[in-house]
Amino acid sequence: MCQIDKVLIDDIVQEYGSPLYVYDANCVRDNYLRIVSSFKNIVHKIHYAMKANENVALLYVLKDLGCGIDAVSPYEIDRALNIGFDPSDIVFTPSCTSVNEIVYGLELGVHVHIGALEYFPMLEEHLKGKKIGLRLNPAISIEGNQKIATGHLGSKFGIPVNYLNKVLEYKDKYGFDVIGLHIHTGSNIHDVEGLKRSVDSLFEYAKLFDEIKYLDIGSGLKIKYKEGDLDIDLDEYAHYIRCKLNEFGKHVEIKVEPGKYLIGNAGYLITKVNIVKKGYNKLFVGVNSGFNHLIRPMYYDAYHEIVNISNPKGDLLKYDIVGQLCEEDTFARDRELNEVRVGDTLLIKSAGAYGFSMAMDYNLRKKPKEILIEDDKVFLV
Ligand code: LLP
Repeated sequence: MCQIDKVLIDDIVQEYGSPLYVYDANCVRDNYLRIVSSFKNIVHKIHYAMKANENVALLYVLKDLGCGIDAVSPYEIDRALNIGFDPSDIVFTPSCTSVNEIVYGLELGVHVHIGALEYFPMLEEHLKGKKIGLRLNPAISIEGNQKIATGHLGSKFGIPVNYLNKVLEYKDKYGFDVIGLHIHTGSNIHDVEGLKRSVDSLFEYAKLFDEIKYLDIGSGLKIKYKEGDLDIDLDEYAHYIRCKLNEFGKHVEIKVEPGKYLIGNAGYLITKVNIVKKGYNKLFVGVNSGFNHLIRPMYYDAYHEIVNISNPKGDLLKYDIVGQLCEEDTFARDRELNEVRVGDTLLIKSAGAYGFSMAMDYNLRKKPKEILIEDDKVFLV
């Protein structure tokens, strides 16, 4: 019998049907506390990257733990404010947004990270006396999935560091302070050396700004998507940052913006098998979902573990697991599963981050319901 926390999956499928997203509140808490424990010798603030999953129930769980928010749109800021986050707990790092959205953030008093030099003249009248942050593009190539890399030379994100002298000129001209520097070089980074190089850049460019108060290391904290995957060595990463802080000498807070690390393995997509069919040279399992609910396998070639919880002792057979869209929406190719029958329940794991938040209504199919589990309690959220 397969369960999430103390709840049987069969029972929730019985009650709420499928497809269904299920989140495990205690797992989110454990993930949060692991970061806190590794960063215990560092003055730090965790800002949940709510683009990973903006479900209100999850935001409440994290708020209760003292977590802040990383927002990328005014809509995300509004949701965070509505559920009680303080503006000072919100960092706002939009990308190529309209200048109006940046003004919105500045006026609310959230920590705005400006990611293009060209915004400064456009913001002129709004900058006087403001304390802002800069998102830098450190021009660092990291190993890993290049579709989710954001800190390299050709990336749209951040201000190229060779323009920082110009920022210093604007600072004098328009009368603002740069109290924060931010870097985010990509998601799910297994290249810890790459992460360390981006931390090096933050400390290096922080020297340009006497008024600096915080350095935001973004995220990229890697999780395990399958057996044998490496996840991030948080203790090692934190130790490295601690050493850099000692060298730097001046007091600065470290901000970190995890999405996947907090929510990824705390979420599941539960699907039902519509059909098992023979193709020319393979067996297909067609489930009642598709990239309209979880796009990661198709968009990023991401791996998600899939389990047939209805037939755990069945013979292992190889299948392509596909969705019901009018597209090639393949969740997994040549994947071994315990023999699958029509009506079986398949559990797609580590789907908490960038699952529901990237879902859509393609083919006019509805998004799944979402459930939060806490101990033995189940909430429709
Ligand atoms: N901070 C900034 C500025 C970001 O752009 C992101 C993610 C994060 C933090 C959180 O990164 P994480 O801790 O989740 O690695 N949809 C893709 C990932 C895109 C990430 C976008 N930015 C995926 O499903 O893999």
